[in-house]
Amino acid sequence: MSINESDQTITDWPDSGSEVPTLPVGRLVYASVCLVQEAVLDEMRRIRDHALAHNGPEGIRVALLYMSGWFVEWMEGPEGAIQALLQRVAQDPRHQGIKVVHRSVGRPRLFRPWIGAIVQTPERPDAFGLRVFEQLDRFESGQVVDPASVWLALCSPAVAAMPTPLGQYPRIMLLSARGARAFDLITWLARVQRQPLVRRRFAGAADDAPDVESDYLDLPAHGRQGLRLIANARKGLAMGMTHAFLPDYTAVVVLLDQDATANQRIVDRVLAACRQVHHLPTIVGLGTQAELTTDLMEQVERQGLAWCVARTRTGRPDLEDYWAALLPALNALE
Ligand SMILES: Cc1cc2nc3c(=O)[nH]c(=O)nc-3n(C[C@H](O)[C@H](O)[C@H](O)COP(=O)(O)O)c2cc1C
Repeated sequence: MSINESDQTITDWPDSGSEVPTLPVGRLVYASVCLVQEAVLDEMRRIRDHALAHNGPEGIRVALLYMSGWFVEWMEGPEGAIQALLQRVAQDPRHQGIKVVHRSVGRPRLFRPWIGAIVQTPERPDAFGLRVFEQLDRFESGQVVDPASVWLALCSPAVAAMPTPLGQYPRIMLLSARGARAFDLITWLARVQRQPLVRRRFAGAADDAPDVESDYLDLPAHGRQGLRLIANARKGLAMGMTHAFLPDYTAVVVLLDQDATANQRIVDRVLAACRQVHHLPTIVGLGTQAELTTDLMEQVERQGLAWCVARTRTGRPDLEDYWAALLPALNALE
């Protein structure tokens, strides 16, 4: 498997120490058809340069995603400034047919003046377009949902069998302290549960966004609402996009390793990210008896987060052993 899980180029938060503001802001999400034929990454970088010059001074923060021939942009900030930006962006020849699919005032999520990503998936533009029109219909009929739910419905849609497709199902992040075992686990699980695994590669459209993979698996039969498991690369934790969605995670599962320093490091990073977005997910330590140390538990609990132990029955677990240990912990989160 070619998961980019090296730790060498992990970037730090550029503005570490700061936090996501909590006062209500204007929020808008639109989708548009991209007219850039090639080198979308270069074009995204040009857009980023404009956005960084304009958005910061205007108090605007945006997330821009390119996927399946579409742009999706999520804006937050003063309502007048958002409207002015929308009008400016609407004149841009790099896209057409802007559809506003969300507008509301509420709690901000975005952390930086600009977050960008390119998702590589085999999905065709017309399939993506169907979801845009679904969201447009929903919005125009007056049904308002959270901007994050709209974004997820467009960019990470749930499998049709999910009992609550609009994102109300629990989302669980899986991270490996070392190696790519989180990805191996959901790949294996997708096979045994006969559910599709959605693989997404985020190309680095910003300096803070290295090329990372994030795969997800929906388990519609789990609990009342179904469950989504998302395997993230460690580097992905430093991505603004992950940051924006962190408040949606019920739990973060850390697949521990024999290397205690690696365990400590990943837990440190998860806790730092949670502090910045004011979120208190349950942290599930998944590993062997020897790996589940009281140090880790104390580290998590000191920050006011719940620590949950998912202990494997053997000291040399395989993927099936990991799942057998994790499942009761996930059931307990219900
Ligand atoms: C999909 C898309 C998203 C964009 N997002 C932003 C943005 O968030 N902020 C911004 O200033 N410009 C953004 N732009 C660029 C603007 O459309 C426009 O080119 C730029 O702001 C013009 O800047 P100027 O008036 O300094 O020439 C975006 C362009 C596209 C195609």
